[in-house]
Amino acid sequence: MKWWYPATRLDPTLKTYHALLLAFLVLITSTAHANRQLAVRNGCMSCHADTELDAPPWPELATKYEKYRGQPNAASIQGERLRQGKFFKNIKAHRKLSPTNATELMQWIIDGAN
Ligand code: HEC
Repeated sequence: MKWWYPATRLDPTLKTYHALLLAFLVLITSTAHANRQLAVRNGCMSCHADTELDAPPWPELATKYEKYRGQPNAASIQGERLRQGKFFKNIKAHRKLSPTNATELMQWIIDGAN
C-alpha cells in the first residue's frame, strides 16, 4: 500500500476522502452504464440505435443535445419536453416515461449517449 499512500501516516480524514472519491468514481462509471440499460428497459432501442434506424440515432441526438452540457436543469426540462411530446410526434415510449427516467435518459444523451 506504500506506493498508493506515499505518506504512511496519512491523516485519516484524507484516507476517508480518497475512499469516498474512489466510491464516487465507481458510481459515475456504473451510472453511465445504468442509463444505457435504462434506455434498453424503456424500449428506446426498438426505434433508436447507434446507427440509422427509424428514429434519430443516439450519436445524432447526443450532438443535438450537447449544448445543454453543464446546465443543471436541462435534463429535466428536456425530459419533460420529451414526455409531453408536444414538439415531437406522439410517441408512446416517450410519453410513458416517468419524470425521473426521462431526466436520467436526457442526461445520458446530453453526456454523449455512450
Ligand atoms: C416507436 C419508436 C420510438 C421509441 C420506442 C422511442 N423513440 Fe425517441 N423518437 C422516435 C422518433 C420517430 C423520433 C423523431 C421524432 C420527430 O421526428 O419529431 C424520436 C425522437 C427522440 C428524441 C429527440 C427529440 C428531438 O427532436 O429533440 C429523443 C431525445 C428521444 N427520441 C428519446 C427517446 C428515448 C429516451 C426513448 C426510450 C424511452 C425513445 N426515444 C423511444 C421514435 C421512438
